[in-house]
Amino acid sequence: MLLTSDKPKFYGRRQCRRIRKAKTSLLDNFLPKMEINKNTVFKKDKLFGTAVSKIYLEIGFGNGEHIAEQALRNPDIGFIGAEVFKNGVANLLTLITGIKEGSDITEDIKLLPDRVDNIRIFNDDVRLLFARIPDNFIDKLFVLFPDPWPKKRHASRRFINPDNLKEIARILKPGGILRVATDHKIYKGWTLRQLHECPDFRWTASCGNDWKHEPVDWVQTKYQRKALAEGRRPVFLDFEKKE
Ligand SMILES: C[S@@+](CC[C@H](N)C(=O)[O-])C[C@H]1O[C@@H](n2cnc3c(N)ncnc32)[C@H](O)[C@@H]1O
Repeated sequence: MLLTSDKPKFYGRRQCRRIRKAKTSLLDNFLPKMEINKNTVFKKDKLFGTAVSKIYLEIGFGNGEHIAEQALRNPDIGFIGAEVFKNGVANLLTLITGIKEGSDITEDIKLLPDRVDNIRIFNDDVRLLFARIPDNFIDKLFVLFPDPWPKKRHASRRFINPDNLKEIARILKPGGILRVATDHKIYKGWTLRQLHECPDFRWTASCGNDWKHEPVDWVQTKYQRKALAEGRRPVFLDFEKKE
């Protein structure tokens, strides 16, 4: 959903393959209950269907495995997920409702019983959302395995860039964490350089163990498992917004 007329160019996929019946039903009938639209109020006590103590944002959640599991583990935290790819959004909805292809959808669709209403979804380019998020609103922000755009001539497409970092620094609370994970050598060097040049952040690592190993609150995704199977070792880079 477009929230401004000033649409930035997006280079990834918005949809692939036909979305099958159950997922289409979830997108049509369940997504609107948790979707961020032009009427959404960005107030901590209004955004979610449950009281939350903190708010985390995941940008480009892919198939939704990370945000779904984090939201389950942390029922007192509100999660905003932004993802352009419609198939990914549909997949997240299957994870949180338990509805799979072939499920009989006769009744009102509900969250799985062990879940609280602590996820909100923006199914478009997060850059269209940034302007609506108040300053110092987010406690932790995840950018996990962003598209690496390894060719030099595509470097301007990389999500970690000065414009996006400026917005991320604005919406993160002082002391809040930006976590970037990547399995790509070029993107690792690129991210460290971009963050080094950004005066708002401090890299939290004090030794190699800190960034070569999964953080304690980590959730593996299919994308990461594929990288590992293909011999690429991810790195986990946490940056703190300076006070
Ligand atoms: C390589 S995938 C990684 C997915 C997921 N984070 C994981 O680890 O499995 C990158 C995802 O970021 C999404 N993405 C890229 N730029 C985005 C943007 N500006 N706003 C929202 N989503 C974006 C893409 O659609 C894609 O699904």
